[in-house]
Amino acid sequence: MKPELRFVDRVVIVTGAGAGLGRAYALLFASRGASVVVNDLGGSRHGDGNSSKVADAVVNEIRKNGGKAVANYDSVLDGAKIVKTAIGAFGRIDVIVNNAGILRDKSFSKMSETDWDLVQNVHLKGAFKITQAAWPYFVKQKYGRIIVTASNSGLYGNFGQVNYSAAKMGLIGLANTLAIEGQSKNIHTNIIIPTAASRLTEDVLPPEIFEQLKPELIAPVVVWLCHEKCMENGSIIESALGWAGKCKRRKNYTDCGKSKLYFSHVIRSSGSVLRPNLSSNVTPEDVEERWSAITDMSTAKHFDSIAEVTGEFLVTIDAMKSGNFDPQNSVIVKRSY
Ligand code: NAI
Repeated sequence: MKPELRFVDRVVIVTGAGAGLGRAYALLFASRGASVVVNDLGGSRHGDGNSSKVADAVVNEIRKNGGKAVANYDSVLDGAKIVKTAIGAFGRIDVIVNNAGILRDKSFSKMSETDWDLVQNVHLKGAFKITQAAWPYFVKQKYGRIIVTASNSGLYGNFGQVNYSAAKMGLIGLANTLAIEGQSKNIHTNIIIPTAASRLTEDVLPPEIFEQLKPELIAPVVVWLCHEKCMENGSIIESALGWAGKCKRRKNYTDCGKSKLYFSHVIRSSGSVLRPNLSSNVTPEDVEERWSAITDMSTAKHFDSIAEVTGEFLVTIDAMKSGNFDPQNSVIVKRSY
């Protein structure tokens, strides 16, 4: 058995950690020894209002389990204040998980400038502000791990989410460049594309898979990506259901008579199932162990739409129900439909 991945003397900020995915990340980091800043302004799903309750509840839960955490209630737009909370409470900062998010869905013709600006601000500008405030610390200590949270809505588009899709693709651009600028300084930036049951997705995801999409199944992937042993940098990792895979841009061409038209599109690895059945958990060590299968692009394929990607989750659930995957590396070997 692999030794447990620990975060001794590491300080982690998780934004939007009062609920959903962020809460699951904060709890797992703390259980692995990290000191955690639980940031959340406690607003509504559309970004209105604020409350200290959700961040406090997660901090209390961590402390009750014997972990170390402090709350921060600032908006990610006040990134410097959140980093200051980490430095004030724990004296350093090692990891930032940019996770806070809101939705303001409208079809394009009805999208107001306010809906556009609020979504761009929380997702994209918020990640810029907090990451830039932490960057000098990362450079000085020659160490840092950054996660940005993108979405299949950005990769493939999704009706009613022009503001959100644009912000999520903006985050991929941000991460691509941070990965280049940070490489020589041991600062790694990766992108997570989650699909999880939360208040953001309760009326969006198919009910038959909603209860299987636990945020706790994605947290081990994010925790592994932020560990000092993980050398991945600049990658897009998708995860849901206790499965993970890697997405990449691929150059392709189509023949147009005498000339060739070049284009680039996104492909996704077959990835790896990370648990033997639907009732098992996933650990960061499971992710570490299967990393080469997760990132193996040899059988990668292109998806045309978010509906196709969601449909593939049904195949994964079926594979887990029937044990219909290769036990050596957990790649799904047979489709059941
Ligand atoms: P959630 O609504 O459960 O959690 C988001 C948290 O962010 C909330 O607690 C909220 O109060 C907080 N927040 C919002 N604005 C903030 C701000 N300005 N400053 C600080 N905190 C703020 O949502 P969920 O589903 O856990 O989403 C987490 C991230 O994952 C988001 O970035 C979302 O866009 C992304 N995502 C989620 C997917 C899913 O399937 N749940 C799919 C793709 C992306």
